[in-house]
Amino acid sequence: MKTTLALLVACAAAIPASAHTLMPVPRTLQPASGRLTIDKGFAAAVDGACDGRARDALARALARLSDQTGIEWTESAGAASPRLTVRCDEAGSAMPSLGDDESYVLDVDAQHAALHAKTSTGAIRGVETVLQLVEGDRAGYFLPALHIDDAPRFPWRGLLIDVGRHFMPAEVIKRNLDGMAAVKLNVLHLHLTEDQGFRVETRKFPKLYQDGSDGLYYTQDQIRELVAYAAARAIRIVPEFDMPGHATSWLVGHPEIASAPGPYKIERHWGIFDPTMDPTREETYRILDGFLGEMAALFPDPYMHIGGDENNGKQWAANPQIQAFMKQHGLKDAHALQAHFNQRLSKILTKYHKQMVGWDEILHPDLPQTIVIQSWRGQKSLAEAARQGYRGLLSSGWYLDLVHPTRDHYLVDPLPPDMGLTPEQAARVLGGEAAMWAEFVGPQTIDSRVWPRLAAIAERLWSPADVRDVEDMYRRLDAESVRLESLGLQHETAQPVMLRRLAGSLHPGPLATLASLVEPVKNYRRPQLRPATQMMPLSRLVDAARPDSRAARAFARTLDAFLGDPAHERERQALVATFTAWRDVRPAIDVTIDRAPALEEVRPLAADLADMGAVGIEAVTYLTNRTAPPEGWKDRVTARLAEAAKPKAELEWPALPAFRKLVDAAAAPAR
Ligand code: ACM
Repeated sequence: MKTTLALLVACAAAIPASAHTLMPVPRTLQPASGRLTIDKGFAAAVDGACDGRARDALARALARLSDQTGIEWTESAGAASPRLTVRCDEAGSAMPSLGDDESYVLDVDAQHAALHAKTSTGAIRGVETVLQLVEGDRAGYFLPALHIDDAPRFPWRGLLIDVGRHFMPAEVIKRNLDGMAAVKLNVLHLHLTEDQGFRVETRKFPKLYQDGSDGLYYTQDQIRELVAYAAARAIRIVPEFDMPGHATSWLVGHPEIASAPGPYKIERHWGIFDPTMDPTREETYRILDGFLGEMAALFPDPYMHIGGDENNGKQWAANPQIQAFMKQHGLKDAHALQAHFNQRLSKILTKYHKQMVGWDEILHPDLPQTIVIQSWRGQKSLAEAARQGYRGLLSSGWYLDLVHPTRDHYLVDPLPPDMGLTPEQAARVLGGEAAMWAEFVGPQTIDSRVWPRLAAIAERLWSPADVRDVEDMYRRLDAESVRLESLGLQHETAQPVMLRRLAGSLHPGPLATLASLVEPVKNYRRPQLRPATQMMPLSRLVDAARPDSRAARAFARTLDAFLGDPAHERERQALVATFTAWRDVRPAIDVTIDRAPALEEVRPLAADLADMGAVGIEAVTYLTNRTAPPEGWKDRVTARLAEAAKPKAELEWPALPAFRKLVDAAAAPAR
């Protein structure tokens, strides 16, 4: 019995569901009895070898805790006997790097919370855990007594932000860095160059950003500030300069390095385009050497990403001089020519003490095993690279722009058990990065695409592989979402602001009900439904709508409970209230649309929702009264739902599958 109990408590996943809202779940957590009071007398201190980063992280945490609890710390309170102490065995490196020790141990009892880390980085991670543990009840705020021994499963846990397609001002990056630190992510990958924009100042080749950015770029001072801001949170910044394809914006100012004569202009459409650097000309390498050398000094991280994806090879195939070069060097195809290009880049990066990272496409036996492959093609591709001796990162399955529900991302694992890798090969899988590609996000909407879903991916990369309970993830995600908001992230607040703008009114009313229930279409469907360019405003209902509708999930849960027992009065009442609200949205939304032509596209969605509300009330009535619906009811309803299933305004109804279950149950014969 004793051993069973010990086993149970040793596994954080086995903690009762209500016990904590930690995200990511720590490696081990053992609850104890008692609590540590948080009141005016609460004081915290840093000792041991912790450096200024740990001290500053604690100061920020105390400010957040004060905001959360409404407690004003008094300067002298408890300074002699702090209730929280943070201790480090060594300072660790001031600039974060891959493989830093991020472990920490946290012990809380009724008198004291002790956070002990090997390095300041571990202390920074542990302080976030302390904040996530804060609870309150009638007696006040407190930390529950417990023992946590925590360390990450993977050393590279990142977020890619594509600032090329849509520029994100530095404040947007900073608030996302705060969110990343809160969920223990440690790499921000800035995708700085794309066909649609060149987003970093270069003093050596100013035409690159001056002609390639519409004036939207980071100055070198801003980059230094972002690097310092990230480092203070133990987050590395890895820059990506995508080449030889996805490179139109470079060629606007420097057409001489293109594989076809210019002139070039900044690309405004989305997709894969022809403009490609010329890998056969020394001038290309002269510019790349100068530019990458300058960037190597600006970005301190030892890793630099050279992209390498989606080169369509068309300009190379059409250029006789390039074809002759290939023949002369025995390069049999575009992939071989790109490997030649990458070998040259690799030498340049080595000269500047950088290790190369690139997308799957750069994998080629001619490249040294120091390169890191970032896989957007999937775990198999990643495993193959690992077998060939290359380190890798997973991004496939974590494309946030594809608007998948959190659960889908959460269950993706960089190392699924059936990959058949040896331990040595598996160790080459460093972790992964979620990717926020920016065709359809701007500064106002990016937070709602990144958060809170990224917190679930962060958990996958930090927590033990067997932490996979989807329901429990959602429970903790709601709590984490609130904490993330307090850092200034706008994933929840942007929607009401956008709805008020669309409605031209302080009171968008039932439009908010509708917006809470729709989701943008998934995968790459959006541009298929409406042609899109960089000039398209990202301010429509599809932009205000959020991924993974919480309202739709709540509806499905209530419905399941009701279908489990239609005599259940509470669920019945809840459903009737929900359906009544749906049914009645239409007049108010119509009035709003009459004054706001930008919302005209929403009219058919309001009709869908009103009709589903009416049908829902009928179905609940049939089920509750145990009566059969009239002849032809199911056919009529099914046809109507088929209409509702067609995307409108690039939006869809995630509640439809649950709704169909209700219709099926109501129309089922014998009751
Ligand atoms: C990519 O999605 N082309 C990296």
